[in-house]
Amino acid sequence: MNENNLMEKIVSLCKRRGFIFQGSEIYGGMAGTYDYGPYGVELAHNIKNIWWKMFVTDREDVYGVDASIIMNPKAWEASGHISGFNDPLSECQKCKHRFRTDHLKDLNVCPDCGGNLGSSKQFNMMFRTYVGATEDESSITYLRPETAGGMFLNFKNILDSMHPKLPFGLAQIGKAFRNEIAPRDFIFRLREFKQMEIEYFVDPRDEKEVMGVFEKLLLEQFKFLKTIGLDDSKIHKIEVSESDRAHYSKRSVDIEFDFPFGQKELLGLAYRTDFDLKNHSSFSGVDLSYFDEPTKDRFIPHCIEPTFGLERLVLAVLSNAYFEEDNEGEIRTVLKLSPKIAPVKCAVFPLLKNKENLVSSAREIYRELKKDFGTVEFDDNGNIGKRYRRQDEVGTPFCVTVDFDTIEKDKTVTLRYRDTGVQERKTVDEVKEIIRNSLI
Ligand code: GAP
Repeated sequence: MNENNLMEKIVSLCKRRGFIFQGSEIYGGMAGTYDYGPYGVELAHNIKNIWWKMFVTDREDVYGVDASIIMNPKAWEASGHISGFNDPLSECQKCKHRFRTDHLKDLNVCPDCGGNLGSSKQFNMMFRTYVGATEDESSITYLRPETAGGMFLNFKNILDSMHPKLPFGLAQIGKAFRNEIAPRDFIFRLREFKQMEIEYFVDPRDEKEVMGVFEKLLLEQFKFLKTIGLDDSKIHKIEVSESDRAHYSKRSVDIEFDFPFGQKELLGLAYRTDFDLKNHSSFSGVDLSYFDEPTKDRFIPHCIEPTFGLERLVLAVLSNAYFEEDNEGEIRTVLKLSPKIAPVKCAVFPLLKNKENLVSSAREIYRELKKDFGTVEFDDNGNIGKRYRRQDEVGTPFCVTVDFDTIEKDKTVTLRYRDTGVQERKTVDEVKEIIRNSLI
């Protein structure tokens, strides 16, 4: 399967099977926006929940927050986003199409119509909006381009309410908005997306210690990627050069992934130093320093930031899991998702649709499994082979078939494994145990 083909197939599966749809599709779409359908929302939730558990609830040193998307515009002056959150833009003088200059092969020729491109200008990527009833300069604010800001603005609130000792972190999952000049590659480059970010604050007085924390956080990001089932061989660590780093960063490492359209950024880790707290302190006039009780020193902590884009993770796990297998001339499409993130954990089928005792026994087992595992499906439509194919396509790791032996003999069911197609007779308790173990 070539790479373009793979992307087309993923996009088509996402629409056909209710994972992801083009935003505002019935109106012709809205570039750079996508909507999750029922399976997509479960998949994304599972990824978010694993991240939150791993980086917040399983730890003692990270505090969750959920800040407003609309913030006081001064915050974006302080963070440098109003002056510096720009992409270079070139406009064709003939067809008026706009391009990101750094994505162009020839800086003078329009890739769409061959016309002349004007000189490159800086384009600010923040979405502007007005707050309140008047629409003038004084009411302008912005949709946040990263979730980080909301955490820096709450730094003092957390110090005062939770009294944490350094090192500690704040974590947030939420929407971010960027007016990308050229949204592309399905859900890879969007105008509205979700970030999962941590601002981890450290004592800056021992630089070796700071770099030790950086390396530890980096390893933890790899562990997370493994937990959600991404292949190690498709993940690459890139040390970002000084000229390519964000305006606030003293060291950045990008983790890139082999997407179907090439090796591209999946997440980043940046050493933001005291850039944000220092600037917010000076722009707001509020002291954002930390008092270190043992040494009686007062200083502004430094910050290390691991940041994920949720939609890039969703695309990575989908492309990592998509397989087509030739089964005696019939193509089986299967998403080999880790059971931990699979939208449906198990599907239950009665062998035959028209046998009332089979259907009611299957329904009973379905309800029992649903109580334990939530996203369990019941399906009695078409033959068993077709039901398996439908579940394979959405990545359901286990299927359970209830037949006459279940109700007349030994109460066992047929458990079928998605990846191997192997089938085994098991009791319902054994099935539960197998599903439970696959989620650990
Ligand atoms: N707070 C730091 C920050 O926002 P970034 O590298 O600009 O850093 C972090 O973005 C992550 O957000 C990226 O690694 C990527 O996963 C995701 N991301 C950034 N822009 C995106 C876009 N336009 N569409 C989808 N995801 C995006």
